[in-house]
Amino acid sequence: MAKSSSFFYCKNCGYQSATWIGKCPSCGEWNTFEQEVIHREEKQKGKALTTLIKSKPKPISEIALEEMPRIATGFQELDAVLGGGIVRGSLTLLGGEPGIGKSTLLLQMGLALQKYKVLYISGEESETQLKMRAERICRNPNKNLFILTETQTQEIVKHIEELNPDIVIVDSIQTMQSVLIDSAAGSISQIKECAAEFQHLAKTTALPVFLIGHITKDGSIAGPKILEHIVDTVLQFEGDQHYGYRIVRCIKNRFGSTSELGIFEMNSTGLREVNNPSEILLSHHDELFSGTAVAAVLEGNRPLMIETQALVSSAVYGTPQRSATGFDLRRLNMLLAVLEKRCRFKLGAKDVFLNIVGGFNIDDPAINLAIMAAILSSTADISVDSRTCFAGEMGLSGEVRPVPHIEQRIAEADKLGFQRFFLSKYNMKGLDVTKYQIKLIPIGKIEELLKVLFE
Ligand code: TYD
Ligand code: MG
Repeated sequence: MAKSSSFFYCKNCGYQSATWIGKCPSCGEWNTFEQEVIHREEKQKGKALTTLIKSKPKPISEIALEEMPRIATGFQELDAVLGGGIVRGSLTLLGGEPGIGKSTLLLQMGLALQKYKVLYISGEESETQLKMRAERICRNPNKNLFILTETQTQEIVKHIEELNPDIVIVDSIQTMQSVLIDSAAGSISQIKECAAEFQHLAKTTALPVFLIGHITKDGSIAGPKILEHIVDTVLQFEGDQHYGYRIVRCIKNRFGSTSELGIFEMNSTGLREVNNPSEILLSHHDELFSGTAVAAVLEGNRPLMIETQALVSSAVYGTPQRSATGFDLRRLNMLLAVLEKRCRFKLGAKDVFLNIVGGFNIDDPAINLAIMAAILSSTADISVDSRTCFAGEMGLSGEVRPVPHIEQRIAEADKLGFQRFFLSKYNMKGLDVTKYQIKLIPIGKIEELLKVLFE
């Protein structure tokens, strides 16, 4: 017999309540509660209980390890993010803002996987739309790529059993619907149920499943955290709408490290991998400008040379303006305070604008030293030599602090033909200087930077 129960869910965060509430106690949003009716077959409950009784604890040494080779996606960048390719039986969630290229990335992956039978299930686009896109992004498409425009999960499972594909892509989890739940597609309980059904499918048939997920205003995956708990891997696709660059970042991975990231470029024929990001990110101008400095930062495990630009000018209005793109404004204010105190620069009456080239948002504190150099350069209106780069964190007392993985950063700068590398003097310990052609310049305090920077 079918049993139905009704709950109220917060549309924003997924908080569940038995009654309607005006303000969500979990996320603090107003008027986000909606009622959902859930039908469940009584029989199912019994089934779950019997399976529980069947399984029994086993010593870990007795569990057989099945060697399952990973499937290479055809994109080195994506393979790296997944920890070395697609794992069989894994459930991967790809989240990102609308229009960032989630559908394009997975369709392109499906088109490139020539040796595998791929099923692309779309609840968002029609067959013709997908065909048109496929024509544009791939000249030699995978003949074994199947398209299904269906949103009901029970029907989908039937098709999967019939077709027996090697990989399944679901675009998107918010459009899927299960008959077990009586609410509209995209509601919290539907998302939970559908994701659980796909997880069951992946685990019982060793079929890798990719789910595309929309994200909410504040950047978290819509249909909340629960979804992130269910899946094995969570990938976040991000980038700036005005730039072609896209980053795939791994937030959770049961089969590899989360410190990897992949860089792509969106152009008229779809996404292209960027294997040498530093070369593209550096602007190639012959003239020297004041106010720019290159930072050797680390994004994930990969060293990246990024240009920072600062503009310091006298404030026309009473209150000086401070603005930062791609960098935290509070950190910029802190750096300015250090410069004011240690280098006696009167920045209090100046407008300061900061920009990180390429639309990237950099968290690595090693970028601090380059920002300091860019600000100093703009203030003094003297350009920094373009073959100079920086890596160091700033302390409040003006000391330049060491940063991790310094050898990787130096090697990247050396490879790209930089000639001077400013770093913290504490980073010099145990460093084999003879390995590099680049000249290393150790700095202890910010005052010292000022002395040697414009030599
Ligand atoms: P899409 O994959 O539909 O985004 P999502 O599924 O994340 O919503 O990507 C759509 C955007 O990508 C669209 O704004 C146009 C751009 N695009 C290109 O620039 N070139 C291309 O070849 C393709 C397929 C898309
Ligand atoms: Mg899409």
